[in-house]
Amino acid sequence: MNFSAISQAQLPALLQAMPKTELHIHIEGSLEPELIFALAKRNQVRLNYTSVEALRSAYAFTDLQSFLDIYYAGASVLQQPQDFYDMAWAYFLRAKADNVVHAEIFFDPQTHTERKVSMRTVITGLHQACVDAKEKLGISSSLILCFLRHLSEEAAMDTFDEAIAFKHLFIGVGLDSSERGHPPEKFARVFARARQLGLRSVAHAGEEGPPAYIWSALDVLHAERIDHGVQAIHDAALMQRLANQRIPLTVCPLSNLKLCVFPDLAQHNVAQMLDQGVCVMLNSDDPAYFGGYLNDNYLQTFAALGLNASHAYQLARNSFEAAFVPDAQKHTWYTQLDECFQQFGA
Ligand code: ADE
Ligand code: ZN
Repeated sequence: MNFSAISQAQLPALLQAMPKTELHIHIEGSLEPELIFALAKRNQVRLNYTSVEALRSAYAFTDLQSFLDIYYAGASVLQQPQDFYDMAWAYFLRAKADNVVHAEIFFDPQTHTERKVSMRTVITGLHQACVDAKEKLGISSSLILCFLRHLSEEAAMDTFDEAIAFKHLFIGVGLDSSERGHPPEKFARVFARARQLGLRSVAHAGEEGPPAYIWSALDVLHAERIDHGVQAIHDAALMQRLANQRIPLTVCPLSNLKLCVFPDLAQHNVAQMLDQGVCVMLNSDDPAYFGGYLNDNYLQTFAALGLNASHAYQLARNSFEAAFVPDAQKHTWYTQLDECFQQFGA
């Protein structure tokens, strides 16, 4: 592939057109203020904000916790299966516009079950949107159930027990919410149980927390992918391991910017990670809150870091390599990626 044949002027169109996956998207984080207000009206939920604009202007975060407080409040409008469907369907329409061909979608059942919304309501609503996304938009997808790490392992175990009846509707478990003070090892037993039942596993680690949390996500939880993982850069031995074992990091640049993990995008370390052979790709995390969907992440990161067509190819290829799908599917996508780059002259 002759990447130097693709000019910098062609890059935005290439980033837009190239097929890609999204592997780190919290579906509750795709809930736009307009839909929050529409669902609040439909379900007669009282909001603490008087308008869409007032809500949006509250999205000025200083760290992860300041975001999570408002994110959990926003999710309180979700009550019926149709609400979960509408939220996920709106995400899939955005994903289609960004040429996302496959999405692995996080959901946080505890945010809902603790408000007496049932596991069935959450999962069946989301699942129906996934079915329709395949049929009507050609996007494949799967669901990953995340445990809230600020709650106890016992609560996670109870949640998992409830979810087992729907095990055929999700492919794995994850770990999210407030990272500092809640190390992965707190959830060793529930992850072991999920793995015994044949589920895949991922964990947020090294977003704000130390490299030690990435080590324990790998060695104690046996996470197959690390969500964020950007703090790995401070640990040379860890970087070596991530690169040697091709352990994917699902990096989210606009999220890191909005939550002040990096002071500006020009200082983001995703290019260093890529250059050191780590399997990184870009993701949107919570696009309704962080000012951009997947292609916004690609476009803004490339502009800030001066990345080129070779970087674009590596990131998109990594997004396929890291997906929880059979190898034959990955090879089909690699071919489609090559064809796209060839159309741009590579
Ligand atoms: N839940 C939703 N977004 C998250 C993030 N960026 N980190 C941890 N938990 C989350
Ligand atoms: Zn996340």
